[in-house]
Amino acid sequence: GAMRRPLVLANWKMNMLPAQVQPYLDQVIPEVEKDTAADVAIAAQDLYLAEMVRQSSQSRLMIAAENAHWTDDGAYTGETSPKALAQVGVHYVLIGHFERRKLFNETDERVNWKTKAALRNGLKPIVDLDEDLTAYEGDDASQVVLKQLAEALDGLTETDLKDVTIAYEPTWAIGSGEAASAAQAEKSAALIRTSLANLYSRELADRTRILYGGSVTTENAADFLSQKDIDGILVGKAALDPEKFLELIDIAQ
Ligand code: G3P
Repeated sequence: GAMRRPLVLANWKMNMLPAQVQPYLDQVIPEVEKDTAADVAIAAQDLYLAEMVRQSSQSRLMIAAENAHWTDDGAYTGETSPKALAQVGVHYVLIGHFERRKLFNETDERVNWKTKAALRNGLKPIVDLDEDLTAYEGDDASQVVLKQLAEALDGLTETDLKDVTIAYEPTWAIGSGEAASAAQAEKSAALIRTSLANLYSRELADRTRILYGGSVTTENAADFLSQKDIDGILVGKAALDPEKFLELIDIAQ
């Protein structure tokens, strides 16, 4: 989308060991300074975030958490406070990633609470919507995603939405090596945008970023990024290699 700045977002998931973080950043950060047409971010495990923020503070690279709790603090052993993440200097937080929904019982209601908690603390949420294969093949394919969208954003105002990015990931395309076609992904992104226009306004819909995720590679990234309603990519496996990540950033220029 021409009026929206593309975002290239790596999601390391539970990958990368401590010794790999520094070399990755050393390779990526200087290059990010040269390619200025897209925003660039990396989502990583909590334990790396503070150091990553320090390393990238003078650069355009932004750091994302992969999850955060829906309250600011309290007795929630093992959870991460969105308030603490914001104070550490983390910029974005993924909310409701498919793996969180599927493996950790993340409900639409919790996704909504977490989105609100992120915004309340000054983090920019990247709200993930997923679409499973049965839904995808069925008549109501789009309804699954649109229901997730409406429930994730329940109670949020148009002003709140200015800091929200939407990510669309077909579940069958995640980590499978089988990406959606650019046309399929564009169709879903366009539906999401229409839904945002209905829920808020055309203006809001036109300025909200919508990312595609699911087996994005250096081969298919350009196809996705050239779609009218796709404003960026959310990349797992391919972005574990810093060289590939740099190529992806380059493609988004
Ligand atoms: O968050 C991105 C992810 O779910 C897609 O993973 O490995 O298919 O690029 P991958």
